[in-house]
Amino acid sequence: MNYSDRLDPDMIAANLKTNRIGRKVIVFQSTSSTNDIAAEYLNNPDNDGFAFFAEEQNAGRGRGANKWVSKKGDGLLCSVILTEFAPGPELLSLTAAVAVAETIGDSAKIKWPNDILIGTKKIAGILVEKKNTGFIVGIGINCHQSIDEFPDSLKNKAISLDMATGAKCFRPTVAKRLLTHLDYWFGVACESEQKIINKWQQLSIHLGHRVNMLYDGRKISGNCIGVDPQKGIILQLDGGAVKMFDAAHSSIIS
Ligand code: BTN
Repeated sequence: MNYSDRLDPDMIAANLKTNRIGRKVIVFQSTSSTNDIAAEYLNNPDNDGFAFFAEEQNAGRGRGANKWVSKKGDGLLCSVILTEFAPGPELLSLTAAVAVAETIGDSAKIKWPNDILIGTKKIAGILVEKKNTGFIVGIGINCHQSIDEFPDSLKNKAISLDMATGAKCFRPTVAKRLLTHLDYWFGVACESEQKIINKWQQLSIHLGHRVNMLYDGRKISGNCIGVDPQKGIILQLDGGAVKMFDAAHSSIIS
């Protein structure tokens, strides 16, 4: 484990200039999934904005049936809770993507709906879960992984901050940046859905490009002309028709 950048809750919370996110920061050495911890805290409305980090998860989850695996101390594993978010879960998912991309830096782009890439490789993933009492936004950012640490199936598809920059990142600083950007963009989303759409489109790898995707197992191809927070990615299909494809049923092939 990389003890030199242990996640210290006081260090993350110190001088954090946020309105809502990170009102309390809790760090676990090891847990099942920070989203599971967040779900327990979500039962109390006073816990809005709480942020949870873990050095290690033994049941980290990704979207769909995917797992999120990260060796102890290598990643930033975070969940934040929102007891209310009026714009709804679809916009929340796009908003989180914008905030995580900005946390990572200028070279980060968004792949539909909310994978964060550097070049063609995934550096971060986001799992938004809706509960009766609010929303959980779970974020995993690859930080200290080297290429050897990724399983063979991911070696050509994954990257870490250290690999991307050639320098060792300091996770408490990344954590602080993450909470700051989440706070800012969640605030923007509550005022203007359009600002999030614009920013998402600006950061997206798809806008103006051809997208090949599976929608409910069916192959769909078309030119991406935008995103609708409720209805999904907007494609102009080869025959000319314009259709929208929601995130829950779609996965990008290329
Ligand atoms: C994905 O890309 O499929 C989403 C990955 C989300 C992973 C993060 S790690 C912190 C939080 N806890 C989890 O179990 N999942 C999210």
